[in-house]
Amino acid sequence: MLDQERMPRHVAIIMDGNGRWAKKRGMPRKFGHREGAKTFRAITRHAKALGIQYITYYAFSTENWKRPKDEVDAIMDLFEKYLDEVRDFIEENIRVRFIGDRTRLSENLQRKMASVEEDSKNFDSMTLVLAINYGGRDEICHAAKTLAQQVKEGKLEPEDITMDMIERNLYTEEIPPVDLVIRPSGEQRLSNFMIWQAAYAEFYYTNILWPDFKGSDLDKAVIAYSERNRRFGGV
Ligand code: IPE
Ligand code: IPE
Ligand code: MG
Repeated sequence: MLDQERMPRHVAIIMDGNGRWAKKRGMPRKFGHREGAKTFRAITRHAKALGIQYITYYAFSTENWKRPKDEVDAIMDLFEKYLDEVRDFIEENIRVRFIGDRTRLSENLQRKMASVEEDSKNFDSMTLVLAINYGGRDEICHAAKTLAQQVKEGKLEPEDITMDMIERNLYTEEIPPVDLVIRPSGEQRLSNFMIWQAAYAEFYYTNILWPDFKGSDLDKAVIAYSERNRRFGGV
């Protein structure tokens, strides 16, 4: 059914609606996050079966620290637990990468992230990117600081700064631009996700809450994408 020629190479998903999913069931929000983590696993396998080459998930934003401490703690605990499960993807030849500012995460988590990245770096069936403590503005600011430092050290002239250089200093170095952004839960906004990389992405919104999101919903998004006419400013 799916035309391989018109498949998105890089799909980015904003995993939203976990809290509402739990609330609807009279449960604390953290149960929604736990359920959402299961969806993440299932959708990753489905994406691989579809032949998607890069899949990025927004798991925790630089703004999510504003949430109550017990919710943030529960999410961080889930990351610790799930990183062990992300390891299973290594057996499926999936390369794992993390984007975001790691310095605010626990040392244990940072260690686990580095080790999964290292152990999976040569795998090539698909690249799985997890955005943890990620913010698009933070990322661009970080790239600006790196380039400014090079200017200060006399290694770079300000007028020689190119878009390509900025791109190479983003967390997504060597990851292609986003083709398709999927946001479940009914919200229609980017919430500081991949603001540089999604400059020409197609958007797909659905009212389904992330824990209820199924492989067939990913199929629908990919089919909708394949019917879009991308012009990149041309005619
Ligand atoms: C997304 O679900 C998960 C994170 C932001 C960590 P939410 O927790 O935002 O769920 P809603 O939007 O409140 O339903
Ligand atoms: C975006 O969802 C962040 C993640 C899914 C990790 P939010 O729930 O934080 O976004 P807003 O607050 O509704 O814009
Ligand atoms: Mg939300």
